[in-house]
Amino acid sequence: MASEPTLIRAVLNDHEHFTLLGEGGVGHLWEQILGPYVSRLFDGAGHADLRRRARDLFTEENSAALVERAAGTVYADLAERLAAGATVDIAAAARLAVGRLISDLLGLQLSPGSPDSTCLETFAAGVRLAALARDSAVSTELSPERVATARRILRTLTRGVPAAFAGAGTDTLLGRCREAGLTLEEAGGLASLLLVAGTQTAASAMARTIALLHDTGQQESLLAAPELIHDAVREGLRVATPAPVIGRHVSADVTLAGRRLHRGERILLMTYAADNAAGGFDLARPYDPRTRQLWFGAGRHLCLGAPVARAEVARMVAAVCEARRPYRIVSRSYARKVMIPSYASLVVALA
Ligand code: HEM
Repeated sequence: MASEPTLIRAVLNDHEHFTLLGEGGVGHLWEQILGPYVSRLFDGAGHADLRRRARDLFTEENSAALVERAAGTVYADLAERLAAGATVDIAAAARLAVGRLISDLLGLQLSPGSPDSTCLETFAAGVRLAALARDSAVSTELSPERVATARRILRTLTRGVPAAFAGAGTDTLLGRCREAGLTLEEAGGLASLLLVAGTQTAASAMARTIALLHDTGQQESLLAAPELIHDAVREGLRVATPAPVIGRHVSADVTLAGRRLHRGERILLMTYAADNAAGGFDLARPYDPRTRQLWFGAGRHLCLGAPVARAEVARMVAAVCEARRPYRIVSRSYARKVMIPSYASLVVALA
């Protein structure tokens, strides 16, 4: 176990001794579900090549546009209802916004009028898929039943990938994958990965950032200086750290902080503890070069969707603050039996 930021970063950057393939790493889970091609794509030269080609899939600019296209109506509706004096469940809106975004990324044709239930089903499937890894802190070996369940969920959700990959425009993820020279197999693997990596993590971060701004009394500062939104997003992500632990397989003997680790062992990197050691949510906290953005990992597996996640949280904060009036929390409840600490509901109204 490691919980010190520089030590965690050192492990995530040391590809000679640590890998996410093999017992303890997330690649091990994916290999059992997607097949042996994962070992070629998720680490080593194949992964480096894939990341190089996927480099521009998500940039700050195209991510904001993507979030707006897929889920802009959810945020606009939320802001409108708040301004009209209604109560709004931020956690539910976050699930819908993420469900719409992930459906868009998976090439599941959405129109502005697509039923919410379809998008919420996409969200729920991403959560179910991630939950299959719930014992991974103990072992990343999946039972045959869990592998079968995961494959069933993925088959349904990635059904739109081949057609979208063949014909989608370059304003879509799958169209951009094609233009970037990815194969259909690579694009399908990436789409599956996004579904798990970007579902509950993003929804949790959105609702928790809204709650943190309220609970720490710092929404007032943000309302007075809207340019602090980037600090709000960074602090929300840091304090929430929706991927609280990252696992790695030890691929070669190594000494780390005076401890000998042996090939075949595993290490748990406690990112939540590392990120939160600096203290509580604080809009005035300067950028910390020790943690940097450890909530998105580090090294060659640094979150590919980080600009998307930032855009999603920023859009939610902007929607809640649109009326330039403080909000209060009317009620809240916590999600139970989930991988990522999340709100089941977070009902707010303008104060
Ligand atoms: C707040 C939301 C999110 C958090 C906290 C988060 C966190 C992370 C972390 C810690 C990793 C590294 C895992 C490791 O090294 O084992 C990762 C990888 C990844 N994330 Fe995210 N993520 C978020 C949202 C997203 C979104 C929205 C997407 C896509 C749209 C996404 C796509 C990916 C992908 C594809 C990888 C694998 C990268 C690779 O192995 O090269 N994530 N994420």
